[in-house]
Amino acid sequence: MEGQKNLSSPAFKEPVHVGRPNLPDRKVFDRYIQSIFDSRWLTNNGPLLRQFKEKLQDYLEVKNVIPVCNGTIALELAERALGFQREVVMPSYTFIATAHSLRWQQITPVFADIQHKATTLAPKSARNAITEATSGIIGVHVYGHPCDHSALKAIAMERSIPLLYDAAHSFGCEVDGIPAAKLGDASVFSFHATKFFNTFEGGAITTDDDDLAEKVRLMNNFGFAGREKDKVDYLGINGKMSEISAAMGLAMLDSVESIRNRNRENYSAYADSFSSVPGLELIEPPASLTRNNWQYVIFRVNKAGITRDNLAQALERENILVRKYFHPGCHRLVPYCSEPSSLRVSLAETEALSDAVLSFPTGQAVNPDMIEKIANVTAEIIERNCG
Ligand SMILES: Cc1ncc(COP(=O)(O)O)c(C=O)c1O
Repeated sequence: MEGQKNLSSPAFKEPVHVGRPNLPDRKVFDRYIQSIFDSRWLTNNGPLLRQFKEKLQDYLEVKNVIPVCNGTIALELAERALGFQREVVMPSYTFIATAHSLRWQQITPVFADIQHKATTLAPKSARNAITEATSGIIGVHVYGHPCDHSALKAIAMERSIPLLYDAAHSFGCEVDGIPAAKLGDASVFSFHATKFFNTFEGGAITTDDDDLAEKVRLMNNFGFAGREKDKVDYLGINGKMSEISAAMGLAMLDSVESIRNRNRENYSAYADSFSSVPGLELIEPPASLTRNNWQYVIFRVNKAGITRDNLAQALERENILVRKYFHPGCHRLVPYCSEPSSLRVSLAETEALSDAVLSFPTGQAVNPDMIEKIANVTAEIIERNCG
């Protein structure tokens, strides 16, 4: 069988990672780097940053993009600009940064459950978690799978509170034909090295609201007031994106469609190769995701005759470095696990999913031949355990 291996050596000589960075054309990147040396402009709203911002506004089809140094700072800026305080309702099923961005500002994240057979915030659970202390809702498009945006919008409007989306996984995605960057009062993206689209480290806040965008822009530069150099309008921070990150972003924009195509090809290869592997169910994107970047390949490990954790360990021994995204859920991690104020509703769906998921490698560094081998190795491990 292809993928069968010598018992003493792993199936892959080199580790196959989830989230190995996608890279742009080196020559294109080098041209931008030369322009940084020519201009000696390294940061502070430089020429590449301004170009990047304009191109992103076109690509993401949104009025305002504010590029920043990472997705976590983007969340904190958006939360502060939207006036979040006291309590904010959010899903537990997400990367820990969503919760930490609130707690870092002394705001309590109140965790709600995800929908049955989905990976995103359940509107009913979110509604039940709201109290008079609730100042906002954060929906997370986990794996780029969109939240039920109409239902969340209705709840936010009913309660007159802002709705923010953590769209860290949604670069270039469309939801019911609407660009993800336009949803909610604002959305936040991560351009971390492991993401579909990266600027080494980076992120952005997107919004169609010009006033909110201006507030975020000023807060991102220490709160300095527009053109008046010595005047400060807001409590601010330094979340500026540097020219080198903007250069990477500009070069990456040229490669985005080829990366999307590779991811789509890889996803199909996983669907085909794993169709005969027992006990693993590929989580499919919902129909509302009308444009996908195919950044994540997630399986639910169900009745495979081996536990999810044991399967993960066995694959790691073969140099297939799968990840348990998002285990165990924010509510079961420090500091939230000891904070009763974070837990108001049942998180049964979150716990069931987070105890079963495995994320498999994809992106430019992975190809369909490797995926066939990964499927064969997985089948062999399962067979060994059942036999
Ligand atoms: C859902 C989610 N939110 C926020 C972040 C934080 O982004 P960053 O690493 O750019 O700070 C990440 C990823 O890292 C993420 O996956």
